[in-house]
Amino acid sequence: MKIIIINGPNLNLLGQREPEIYGSLSFDTFIKGLKRKYTSTDIQYFQSNIEGELINKLQEVGFSYDGIILNAAAYTHTSIGIGDAVKAITTPVIEVHISNTFSRESFRHQSFISPNAKGVIIGFGLKSYELALQSFL
Ligand code: DQA
Repeated sequence: MKIIIINGPNLNLLGQREPEIYGSLSFDTFIKGLKRKYTSTDIQYFQSNIEGELINKLQEVGFSYDGIILNAAAYTHTSIGIGDAVKAITTPVIEVHISNTFSRESFRHQSFISPNAKGVIIGFGLKSYELALQSFL
């Protein structure tokens, strides 16, 4: 099974960025642990701060991979382009968020991803990614 985690803007700063919201573990350390635990799954990772690069990656993997775990971060709430890309591809997408976006500012309550996602996992810290992975398995 081939899965990719795609992270959007500022998620390269996990571990340093607002640790009271996002925790103190870097994504690098987290994904190493995930790969060690799920050795029979091919887990790829891509992060970009640039909207178009996220769309390019969705198009690149979205007709051949078995699953996409997408945290589009702030673009979740603004990007019709990423929402359209999720709709255009055939690989199922699970939308994840580390924090509970519904307990935060109201502008985080809207998602352009959710209507076309297979499912949404929100608010379980980095565990959100593992829960998404387990749902594909
Ligand atoms: C986030 C929530 C978004 O609102 C925010 O812009 C992020 C991270 C999360 O994982 O909790 O950058 O997607």
